[in-house]
Amino acid sequence: MSIEVDILNGDASWARAEPLHRAIWGRHVVEKQPWAHIEWANADLRVLLDAPDDGGLACHVGIYFRTITWNRHKVHVGGIGGVATREDCRRRGYASLAIDAAVHTIRANDAVKFAILFCEPHNFAFYQARGWHPFTGEVYCEQPSGQIRFEAMTPFVYDVVRAPRDGKIDLCGLPW
Ligand SMILES: CC(C)(COP(=O)(O)OP(=O)(O)OC[C@H]1O[C@@H](n2cnc3c(N)ncnc32)[C@H](O)[C@@H]1OP(=O)(O)O)[C@@H](O)C(=O)NCCC(=O)NCCS
Repeated sequence: MSIEVDILNGDASWARAEPLHRAIWGRHVVEKQPWAHIEWANADLRVLLDAPDDGGLACHVGIYFRTITWNRHKVHVGGIGGVATREDCRRRGYASLAIDAAVHTIRANDAVKFAILFCEPHNFAFYQARGWHPFTGEVYCEQPSGQIRFEAMTPFVYDVVRAPRDGKIDLCGLPW
């Protein structure tokens, strides 16, 4: 089976990723979530995994880069978000492959000290099995209404150099 993994500009590739997003996070699904009201950042880059034998685009991972603060110290981080595999293509290792590609891309940025993602309890085990650790401190972010404490999802961190496990993170912008 052939698989193609592309890492593309986030804005330019949104049109390709959008149908997969809509299929998984349609309005009727989103409106029931504790994060329904959250405004999200747009991805800087996107990993798109195409599996022609599985009917085309099968998996997406958004990649983010941001200078945040941790305990008031500036630090450059990477992030992943919008991790999604088409429902009929799950448990074939596609998300694992796409996350690996995203982490490689984040590591390739010399300024990055660690990576952050946000997820829901049913995915904790999935990310922990892939080397991500819970961040038990507080996370703040921007929203159109101003700064808020971000508690709608749980933060996980990934060591590039070494990620903090607690303390206070300010995302200095919209969450992802
Ligand atoms: C979570 C998700 C991206 C996983 O995609 P996937 O392509 O099926 O993942 P993979 O095939 O790489 O998973 C590989 C392994 O993880 C396991 N796994 C998948 N989801 C899991 C979960 N939620 N918890 C624990 N293990 C999980 C699979 O059993 C598989 O294990 P195996 O290799 O031993 O069989 C997919 O289920 C999805 O799109 N869910 C809906 C959207 C979502 O929740 N996204 C995450 C946002 S943070």
